[in-house]
Amino acid sequence: MSAKYSLSLDIVFVSIVAALSGFLFGYHIGIFTGALIFIAEQFQLTSFEQGMLVSIILVGGLVGALFGGLLSDYLGRKRTLFLTVLLILIATFFLYDAKDYRIIMFGRLITGLAIGIGSVTAPLYLAEIAPKAHRGSLVSLNQLMIVTGILVSFWVSYMLAADGDWRILFTIGLIPAALQLIGLFFIPESPDWLMGQGRKADAEKSLRRLEMDASFLETKRKQDLPTKKRLAALLDPSVRSALIVGIGISVLQQITGINTVFFYAPHIFKLAGFTSAKAAIYATTWVGIINVFMTVVGLWLIDRIGRRPLLLISLSGMALSLALLGSAFIFSAHGGALAIVSLMVYIASFAVGMGMIPWLMISEIFPLGIRGRAMGISIFSNWTANYLIALTFLPLIHALGIGQTYWLFMIICMAGIWFSWKKVPETRGKTFEEIQKFWHK
Ligand code: BGC
Repeated sequence: MSAKYSLSLDIVFVSIVAALSGFLFGYHIGIFTGALIFIAEQFQLTSFEQGMLVSIILVGGLVGALFGGLLSDYLGRKRTLFLTVLLILIATFFLYDAKDYRIIMFGRLITGLAIGIGSVTAPLYLAEIAPKAHRGSLVSLNQLMIVTGILVSFWVSYMLAADGDWRILFTIGLIPAALQLIGLFFIPESPDWLMGQGRKADAEKSLRRLEMDASFLETKRKQDLPTKKRLAALLDPSVRSALIVGIGISVLQQITGINTVFFYAPHIFKLAGFTSAKAAIYATTWVGIINVFMTVVGLWLIDRIGRRPLLLISLSGMALSLALLGSAFIFSAHGGALAIVSLMVYIASFAVGMGMIPWLMISEIFPLGIRGRAMGISIFSNWTANYLIALTFLPLIHALGIGQTYWLFMIICMAGIWFSWKKVPETRGKTFEEIQKFWHK
């Protein structure tokens, strides 16, 4: 590998600061499972109110994602990240002080907005500062942070469950937020965004700050000429094909059932014989550990074997394990050991590819002028699909049975294999310009 593409410590630092958005995403999604039990008890919530409280963050997320692209394009990536931290601070204040469950709803809605905006801005920024040879792993750092945030939230819930103090669970989220806030003062604005604004000199300064040498500056300048900024550019045939892939792969990430398996895991463990709630939560922590471990494996593989092979391996593993998970419940009411093993294999298969690739691909496949907005649309589809699956999962179990519902997700995985095979391009080691040429073919 040539020296100009070697990864400096500085880029790693800058990337970690941006990827803390992913940590906040994972933490705030995961922490509610622990907090809800106590909130429901304290405010005597009906199951409808509990359902509203759980899903409101997804509503915030989808609205945030919708505006995240626009904000990143207009304000710049860095200022938008500042805004998300500010929103987290406001949300935590409301959550900490809440004396009524409606205030908690409001706090969770604002949290959702923050992580929804961050879910667009962080991968966008990461893709723009990354040398192409490391783009896969640097953008996927965001996914590693998401899964670490989820795991930490499980641990925090587990450790603090005995006290029943749900306010502290939200407050702990201020630690990564504060770290990101401080870090943001030390990272440069995205050179691509600056170039898109016509601020060449600032873009060069930013690249130098990232320790990229002059020849890299030249390739970067050539590789990714801005397109028209108008929204109409989204309808351009080449952008349309990219949008189909971006939206398709984002929706696929959710409708293959990840969050129904992941957040339903304590229940599956209980059915399989981990009778106490504490034992089931403990076992779920192991699901979180596998998730993090396999994300690290994926991170290591993604710039080596490429996006497409990893995507196909991941979806095949998910389809196979869902077939087994479904069968475990269809042939035995308790699921048993087969359910547990297939659940673990499913999470591992998701984490190694499907967890990170959609986030990565959507940061790579769109032309500069509309990248923020096109990513925003793709991520909006991701959150919307996430929300719809959350709404329909229990009714589906009711109508079809749990085993059959997992079989349905298996069929969707198979459709996903077909879609990935036919439509998804390989972007490993390609410059943004080379990727754009692919769409124009
Ligand atoms: C997905 C989340 C999911 C998480 C699990 C992310 O890539 O977008 O919906 O909860 O992975 O690891």
